[in-house]
Amino acid sequence: MKLFITIFILSIIINCCFSIIPTSVRLAFTKNQDEVRATWWTDEAMDSPIVLFSSELFIPEQDSVNGIEATVMDYDTLGFHGHPTTAILTGLQEMTQYFYCVGNKHSGEYTPVYNFTTGKINQVGGEITPFTFSIFGDMGYGGKGLDSDFYTVANLNERSNDLAFNIHVGDIAYADETWQTVINGNQTIWNQFLDSINPVSSHLIYMTCPGNHDIFYDLSVYRRTWLMPTDDSDKVSWYSFDYNGVHFVGISSEHDFLPLSPQHTWIENDLNNFRSKNPDNFIVMFAHRPFYCSTVWNWCNTTEDYLKKAFVYSLENLLYKYNVDMFISGHTHSSERTLPTYNGQPMGTYSNPKATIHITVGTGGNSEGNQHHWYPQPVWSSGYRISDNGFGLMNFINSTTLSWQFVANINNTIIDEIFITKGQF
Ligand SMILES: *[C@@H]1O[C@H](CO)[C@@H](O)[C@H](O)[C@H]1NC(C)=O
Ligand SMILES: *[C@@H]1O[C@H](CO)[C@@H](O)[C@H](O)[C@H]1NC(C)=O
Ligand SMILES: *[C@@H]1O[C@H](CO)[C@@H](O)[C@H](O)[C@H]1NC(C)=O
Ligand SMILES: *[C@@H]1O[C@H](CO)[C@@H](O)[C@H](O)[C@H]1NC(C)=O
Ligand SMILES: *[C@@H]1O[C@H](CO)[C@@H](O)[C@H](O)[C@H]1NC(C)=O
Ligand SMILES: [Fe+2]
Repeated sequence: MKLFITIFILSIIINCCFSIIPTSVRLAFTKNQDEVRATWWTDEAMDSPIVLFSSELFIPEQDSVNGIEATVMDYDTLGFHGHPTTAILTGLQEMTQYFYCVGNKHSGEYTPVYNFTTGKINQVGGEITPFTFSIFGDMGYGGKGLDSDFYTVANLNERSNDLAFNIHVGDIAYADETWQTVINGNQTIWNQFLDSINPVSSHLIYMTCPGNHDIFYDLSVYRRTWLMPTDDSDKVSWYSFDYNGVHFVGISSEHDFLPLSPQHTWIENDLNNFRSKNPDNFIVMFAHRPFYCSTVWNWCNTTEDYLKKAFVYSLENLLYKYNVDMFISGHTHSSERTLPTYNGQPMGTYSNPKATIHITVGTGGNSEGNQHHWYPQPVWSSGYRISDNGFGLMNFINSTTLSWQFVANINNTIIDEIFITKGQF
């Protein structure tokens, strides 16, 4: 009898607290431009996970639409419970709005119907199709004040119908912060973060690269959550994708980047492949840590930080050699932009860049707060250096012109704007 009651109570607890209701839906690019990946999370594994999608608005279970079976994963760690679940929507048309929901076919539990819009497929030659994307780093969950992460999400959401996709340049959930060592992660924080960005990530493609706060559990949580189009998502965290004629390269400052390392070799091959066929197209590279920054902090003091020295020494020459137009990063909780710069020296102007322009946007609004102290203005600095939280918008206007804007979270207003002409170097 006692055993029966115990089992009865246990089953109530299990039914009440572990469900297969899908949450934290997010979209990502794959290696193919006619595909989009949808990933979500459940407590208990779904027995018949599925994505339903159509270019027409539909009602799940009532209307007959495309269905793609999904794959259920586990977290491969002691500390995390639950099931990242993922599927790839295939055969998409370019420049088309799609409606979709994810759920469990047998139990009929579905998310609301979300939508996203595809870009131009295989844009050829030097042409681009105009678009805007948003980018920031260092966001986390639960920052304080009127410019915290909550405002980043709200402001992006307000602007999301004008955006093609979003990039989060590492230090994603700060799920390592309540523990003493950065080896462990806190799943409550991780899930709170994912739920909080759901309005943005279910509507906009949400691309990431790892930051120092994401590498706990040997990145197994990061990699199962953010299924980026890498060559092997279990092993590497670097990838590239093309969007409307612009080449994007996401790299990891948290892995070996020294010459002859797998990552270094991959970066050089990727840049060489793209640049040799596309001499005039923009290339945007992103990573968590910057090459150039000037807040009073070890990473921004090149004479002090040996990892930083190695990062610059190993990779900056590739940016120069392959004419990488823009490099965007976070890590320092501030926003700065350089003049076109190589080897510590300004080279050319925004209207005639002779080297890469570097921008930091570690301003997602995390609870650690911002850096407010600056070293004397370096020669490579544009002078634009702020500690306000917010995010960047990069607008590709035509094949030779882009603009960069910084939106302050506090009033969702653009407080910095520059125009940049395609440089040849
Ligand atoms: C698509 O989703 C966005 C963001 O949720 C929403 O603002 C918009 O109204 C949706 N579009 C349609 C046609 O339902
Ligand atoms: C994880 O984070 C939650 C929310 O901040 C907190 O309540 C909890 O104590 C943390 N767990 C551990 C083991 O640190
Ligand atoms: C960088 O660190 C070194 C060594 O701690 C220090 O001497 C130097 O003043 C710092 N640089 C700046 C610009 O503050
Ligand atoms: C690109 O756009 C800029 C800014 O609107 C304009 O000045 C320039 O003439 C355009 N270039 C081409 C090739 O259309
Ligand atoms: C918005 O906030 C920023 C940052 O505090 C401030 O510099 C700017 O003047 C404000 N702009 C408007 C239009 O209120
Ligand atoms: Fe960081």
